[in-house]
Amino acid sequence: MCAIYPVGVKISVVTMFPEWFGGPLSVSIVARAIEDGALEVDLVNLRTYGLGRHKQLDDAPFGGGPGMVMMVEPLVNALTPLEETHRVLFTPSGTPMTQATLDRWASTPEITFVCGRYEGVDQRVIDNHIDEEVSLGDYVLAGGEVAAVAAIEGIARLLPGVVGNPESTEKESFREGLLEEPVYTRPADYQGWTVPEVLLSGDHARIETWRLEQRRRRTVERRPDLLRDGSDSET
Ligand code: ADE
Repeated sequence: MCAIYPVGVKISVVTMFPEWFGGPLSVSIVARAIEDGALEVDLVNLRTYGLGRHKQLDDAPFGGGPGMVMMVEPLVNALTPLEETHRVLFTPSGTPMTQATLDRWASTPEITFVCGRYEGVDQRVIDNHIDEEVSLGDYVLAGGEVAAVAAIEGIARLLPGVVGNPESTEKESFREGLLEEPVYTRPADYQGWTVPEVLLSGDHARIETWRLEQRRRRTVERRPDLLRDGSDSET
């Protein structure tokens, strides 16, 4: 199935570290998507919503325990103007981000990514101002910024005109529930390291059969969970 993506996606990123995004937004596919007007990224500096002279953003958890919790008021003030957008909190406690998640977001005109830090975000913010909690994977990072950048890049390459050949985003890994096959380019023989003969045969039917077999084998070896799930589509 071919998803329909809007001409433009606007992403607001609520972060304590807007300067962190300078590099990732200024190179390659993401930079091109922004330049072409397919993608707009608005960085919202959470620190400007901090409380008091020290612009406080976090406090100790009620009930005790280690670490600090991001406070309600600064986040509510940052998120209130973004109420009409689809608001995503990045947290290791969220549902895993998959290709299907990115497909869905690439069809959402206005999204907000909230980058959590510290031990977490006061649950009242989540209950009242967050539509979805998403995790980059089963490991703990220092904050949601890396996840936001991963999502921005994953969305940018799905937007019309950003990747030259739309077939390369339609027929790729995960979308068909299998990992990609190994690929080769010239020279056919590098100091005795040769390319599988079938790829040089010119026999397209044989090549397709070989590719599918390689994809199946890789998926069985590396990601049997993908075969059990059937696909990565969201339910
Ligand atoms: N913040 C910290 N760890 C994270 C993860 N794994 N995914 C998303 N946000 C995070």
